[in-house]
Amino acid sequence: VDTTVVIVGAGPTGLTLANMLQHNDIPCVVLERRSREFVENRHRAGIVDARVRRMYQDWGLADVLGGPPDDGILEFRVDGEAHLVDHATLSGGQYGWLCPQQVLVRGLIARFLAGGGDLRFETADVTPHELTGDRVRVTGTDPSGVTTTFTAPYLAGCDGTRGASRASLPAGAVATYTFDHEVSWLTILATAPPPPHPLLAVSEHGYAAQFYRGPKASRYYLQCRPEDEPADWPAERVWPQLRMRLGDDALPDGPITEIGRVDMRSEVCEPMSYGRLFLAGDAAHVMTPMGGKGMNLAVLDAETLAVAISAAVRDGDESGLRAYSATCLERAWRYQEFSRWMLEMLHDAGDASRVGPFRRRLARTRLAALFTDSTAARVFGEMMAGAS
Ligand code: APR
Repeated sequence: VDTTVVIVGAGPTGLTLANMLQHNDIPCVVLERRSREFVENRHRAGIVDARVRRMYQDWGLADVLGGPPDDGILEFRVDGEAHLVDHATLSGGQYGWLCPQQVLVRGLIARFLAGGGDLRFETADVTPHELTGDRVRVTGTDPSGVTTTFTAPYLAGCDGTRGASRASLPAGAVATYTFDHEVSWLTILATAPPPPHPLLAVSEHGYAAQFYRGPKASRYYLQCRPEDEPADWPAERVWPQLRMRLGDDALPDGPITEIGRVDMRSEVCEPMSYGRLFLAGDAAHVMTPMGGKGMNLAVLDAETLAVAISAAVRDGDESGLRAYSATCLERAWRYQEFSRWMLEMLHDAGDASRVGPFRRRLARTRLAALFTDSTAARVFGEMMAGAS
């Protein structure tokens, strides 16, 4: 199969790129290892920031977003005391969307297929070859065991950290910077009324948070010890801890639909391209969930790549492709810095046994500035809205 762009991975990044290319009449094929059902039901991120909401509007894709608008207010609850930060107003009236990732993914799949897009689920053994020639060749095997070869001038690696794209890079082609934040959370999905605003709680018991994941669904984060396993945390242990850290309101003993553990880890690959392969989204960088930027950053890569490929295909202008990696990396490091800043602040300000009293006071001072210093609050508001 001959095409212009082979996209590996049908997560938010690959699907956003596919829709943008379709919008610009550039042929592409999307190869996804998992089934449609699996991809459409994978719960992960949940906030589309103001910058990304505008992006989907600009591309005529506003209807892929579902869920309610984000009123742009965060509640920080410090030792039980509420502090509301109106980041939408702080950023000049920009607001995002409380859109669960699976809702976005479903919307993007439906739009791409309705436009006649070529999206192949359950494609096994995807393998890129000849990354530095005139065209790349990618092989993949469909569920009936038939192997197809796809050729194209451009390959978009949107298949996450452990995908086929990263694996196809020769040793030394890309440097990987990783960081372990030494913080772990239990991630809990439950049938429980979501809070009126995303709620981030700091106390000596450790960090906890609650987010909207549907009209009757909440996502909770609960800082735990790195050695804890989800099995150590039955519902009878989870709910009292959540009540202690978040407060008694809106916390029923509802059924827990999913519980997992996530270790806070960051990663950035430099450069984000090699030959005809362009890495995008999680394939190039991993963010912690803190700050809610992972999915937003990922789909901004897709836009940068869609614009660059369109210029190359339509006008023979390859400058955007040459600048792709540097443009995306500048943004990625800014987002990593923001996320780390927030993670350090909200964890160090809590359980002092982790970092000692000096760092705890520093973190509390940083946090207090958000409530008392309008300049600090505005910088925070701008980052919450997303990079311009
Ligand atoms: N072949 C084909 N597809 C693959 C392969 C492979 N070898 N390996 C992985 N994939 C698919 C996965 O099944 C998944 O659907 O690539 C897709 C990658 O999607 P995501 O992991 O969601 O990554 P991305 O689209 O970059 O989205 C990044 O969404 O999930 C969040 O934490 C993530 O917020 C970040 C954002």
